[in-house]
Amino acid sequence: MKVKKRLNLLLGALLLSVGATAQQVCVSTPQTSLVLSAPVGGEFKQLYYGTKLTAADLSALDATETAQNAYPVYGLTCPTEVALAVKHGDGNMTLQMEVVGVENRTEGNASLTVVSLKDKIYPFFVDVYYKTYPDADVIETWTEIRHQEKKPVVLNQFSSAYLPIRRGNVWLSHLSGSWANEGYLTQEALTPGMQVIKNKDGVRNSHTDHAEVMFALDGQPQENTGRVIGAALCYSGNYKLRIETHDDEYHHFFAGINEENSAYTLKKDEVFRTPELALTYSDEGLSGSSRNFHRWARLHKLAHGTTPRKILLNSWEGVYFDINQTGMDQMMADIASMGGELFVMDDGWFGDKYPRKNDSSSLGDWVVDKNKLPNGIEGLLADAKKHGIKFGIWVEPEMANTTSELFEQHPDWVLKAPQRDIVLGRGGTQVVLDLANPAVQDFVFGVVDNLMTAYPEIDYIKWDANMSTLNHGSQYLTKDNQSHLYIEFHRGFEKVCQRIRAKYPDLTIQACASGGGRANYGVLPYFDEFWVSDNTDALQRIYMQWGTSYFFPAIAMASHISAAPNHQTFRTVPLKYRIDVAMSGRLGMEIQPKNMTDEEKTLCKNAIAEYKSIRSIVQLGDIYRLVSPYDKQGVASLMYVAPEKDKAVFYWWKTEHFCNQHLPRVKMAGLDPNKQYRVHELNRIDNKPLNFEGKVYSGAYLMANGLEIPYTHNVDYHKLNDYASLVILLNEE
Ligand code: DGJ
Repeated sequence: MKVKKRLNLLLGALLLSVGATAQQVCVSTPQTSLVLSAPVGGEFKQLYYGTKLTAADLSALDATETAQNAYPVYGLTCPTEVALAVKHGDGNMTLQMEVVGVENRTEGNASLTVVSLKDKIYPFFVDVYYKTYPDADVIETWTEIRHQEKKPVVLNQFSSAYLPIRRGNVWLSHLSGSWANEGYLTQEALTPGMQVIKNKDGVRNSHTDHAEVMFALDGQPQENTGRVIGAALCYSGNYKLRIETHDDEYHHFFAGINEENSAYTLKKDEVFRTPELALTYSDEGLSGSSRNFHRWARLHKLAHGTTPRKILLNSWEGVYFDINQTGMDQMMADIASMGGELFVMDDGWFGDKYPRKNDSSSLGDWVVDKNKLPNGIEGLLADAKKHGIKFGIWVEPEMANTTSELFEQHPDWVLKAPQRDIVLGRGGTQVVLDLANPAVQDFVFGVVDNLMTAYPEIDYIKWDANMSTLNHGSQYLTKDNQSHLYIEFHRGFEKVCQRIRAKYPDLTIQACASGGGRANYGVLPYFDEFWVSDNTDALQRIYMQWGTSYFFPAIAMASHISAAPNHQTFRTVPLKYRIDVAMSGRLGMEIQPKNMTDEEKTLCKNAIAEYKSIRSIVQLGDIYRLVSPYDKQGVASLMYVAPEKDKAVFYWWKTEHFCNQHLPRVKMAGLDPNKQYRVHELNRIDNKPLNFEGKVYSGAYLMANGLEIPYTHNVDYHKLNDYASLVILLNEE
């Protein structure tokens, strides 16, 4: 152990000497550098974050001119925003940190740099971590906070990281929304004052704003040009992002757990680890930063990030709570006949004393409703086998209803404030289980473990969470530690996820939370994907998926073909358009196939076959967003390019329809200018092939000119409608 530590210190010293001066620390990724100044006994500063520096530029960096404190603390510069604020055991509210060491070490194929800070007087320590990978342009940074004071220290503010961004015409891109309108993109210039993006839901943190943002450094953001910093807080609980612009030359960006109602009492020697903030930088615009996030996510963050996903049918919009054996069998037969690979039975299958007929009972009672499913899950698995597909199942393990056997047996397992009646959630009876309690953690783990032990053939779990923390009260935590509730809930949740992943590494798990309430990098190490939204309307999905794709790769974005009129917007969108939108994410279906015509089934069957041929490009390729739906040009367009640039898929969706309208001709991006590509339309419904079908164009031509796409489909008169869309596969000749 000692030898290893010594080696690490030596390695650190070696790496440091590669930098310009002994006090300079350069955290590098293949294309970026983060340069810090960390002189032992001195102040910890950030000098630079951006495109990778040469050794000469590195040594020329002038610390005195550009440096900002890299992890500002409260007490001796009171009026400014800080990352960390505490109250020491003796009541002192101040911190004054100095560098006590820098260490570099490896962890698998990742490199870790740790800058250790100590208060000048108090035995109070902060280690600031930076983690990089040789194959991803993302730096993960977080802190570990501990002390050896006699009395506990109260943490009042505890950001994961701080980033100074040179003031200028800097634009912020962020996502907001709520149920059925998740991932709505807003882009605005940073102006003086405080911009705060936060969440206090307690359970689902991406209904409201998202914990991910992008900063365009060169004015109004562009998709494929300009310098962009991206930041994603990897946390599933309450968070707060702050951007302060006051009278100096920087926009001051802080990101971390939301400290509101969450003051944390830190015992001697206890380590408080803040969640990682993932940072990326690209000079290829917003799409460039997205590509960096996607690559990092697939390689290092997301469960099974490099394994293409199965094409599934989910039962929810098809039957809602009306589950029964024959109905499930019919849906399985239908999806199998269309070429699908997996069927997922959603809500409504469980409950014995209290059968789940609607959303007002049974959560917690994870036993099959034998009236609905006399042959049990065995019967469903046998059906799936018969149809040659896999089977998945819905659960909502962190929740209960007051009308449940679980609540009758364990009323002390739910979040509830002392002396108060419980405020109830969905269905008028829903409550949140107290994941701070280890017994509850065992129960929640058991929900998945019991299913998987009894039915190891289950291939997929849809894990839902449909309620906020309405009641601030843990019946497990002591009365002095009630402010730990939100943090302990998410620690408990993460422990359960870790246990599930350790025992069931191959299981596919979807994070759903009233739709897209859990689209965050806190859950994604344990989940394969998330449900983008309960809103499956194809037109609105273009907007939602556009925003969501800023931070999350298509492989993680569940995108389903649903019925018309749509169940959320009541809009009637033609099937071709619904297919073309769903095919830009992780394709699935959310529909009652028995209500589809034979012609519709054939169209879907064909689309599923076509998707199989492009699945790896969509799910593992590089995104280039081309025309934003938010720019209101009447069209939206994006493409995915295979890493070798030998294949690409181009999507074009008309978003408005008028007579004599004039849409922009969309230029492609990301191709190899010197390669020749043959064009082939997928999901064709037109009576005649398009003019460019089968023709070969150079990448240079397609990126300079694009293709002339007709504004309406060439179909029989009775099939004409106000929608048009196109999916093109480009294959290198
Ligand atoms: C909310 C989810 O977002 C839906 O997809 C569905 O699973 C329902 N819950 C079931 O109650």
